Amino acid sequence: MAKIRKAVFPVAGLGTRFLPATKASPKEMLPVVDKPLIQYAAEEAEAGGAEHLIFITGRHKRSIEDHFDKNYELEMELKEAGKDKLLKLVQNVLPEHVDCIFLRQPEALGLGHAVLCAKPVVGDEPFAIILADDLIRNDEKGVVEQMAEVYERTGASVLSVEEVPPGETDKYGIVATEEQPDGTLRVVSIVEKPKPGDAPSNLAVVGRYLLSPTIFDKLEQTRPGAGGEIQLTDAIAALLQDEPVVAYPFAGKRYDCGSKEGYLEATVEYALSHAELGASFRDYLKQLDL
Ligand code: UTP
Repeated sequence: MAKIRKAVFPVAGLGTRFLPATKASPKEMLPVVDKPLIQYAAEEAEAGGAEHLIFITGRHKRSIEDHFDKNYELEMELKEAGKDKLLKLVQNVLPEHVDCIFLRQPEALGLGHAVLCAKPVVGDEPFAIILADDLIRNDEKGVVEQMAEVYERTGASVLSVEEVPPGETDKYGIVATEEQPDGTLRVVSIVEKPKPGDAPSNLAVVGRYLLSPTIFDKLEQTRPGAGGEIQLTDAIAALLQDEPVVAYPFAGKRYDCGSKEGYLEATVEYALSHAELGASFRDYLKQLDL
């Protein structure tokens, strides 16, 4: 079975929930403690076996390209100043065998449209999609690696899912599933942002997908849906008529860093477990006497 070698990062959204921070800079460059969200996502993809990282960018996304590029001036200055530890940090943003490809989505026509932009580079193999604003922490095994194992076992496309409060189904793609004898959850239907009363379950799709390349054919046939955007969810609904798709309740803790609250929660928790800052930050929080 084909290995997952390619990961797609759609980063061309407008990030309206995080304005004005996202006016001139992408939300994926927001740092959680000392690393931008997109770097956590790239590291997770690499740990899951991806060697080709494909970024679908839009306007104001130059900083993402610069982040993964070499910065000669900075490296030179750090070298001359003898700051070897910092030098290693900026040099080793990604291991050498990993390459980055940047494609433009000319207009923000939706997540589905962004994914379709990756078709010429992904070609005819299964691939991962990572939405970097869903930061998912699992220090032992990242979610992309977990999903790659599910794919190897089942041969099916994989959607990472999580139970959400029933009142929040209108923020997510929601799946209905059927449990198979081996315990996997086969997706029987998927619907984008259903109202709580209409939702088939409270199993929400989060920002990690592992999809068969057939999704590109389905995206090409998908007409604009909710909000005039080409929805990935609609193309997945078409995909599951032809091929198996499974829902995978991932192991890890998710932070919705596209929202201010989720971002703050991530910042506090990552800071508390940070090797250098954790202890002093904990002391600081304690003396706030909340
Ligand atoms: P969101 O639904 O989070 O939209 O997109 P957004 O524009 O980024 O943020 P808000 O809701 O306005 O605050 C889900 C993912 O799809 C990407 C986004 O970058 C994000 O990772 N996306 C969305 C695109 O790449 N292109 C699009 O046209 C739309």
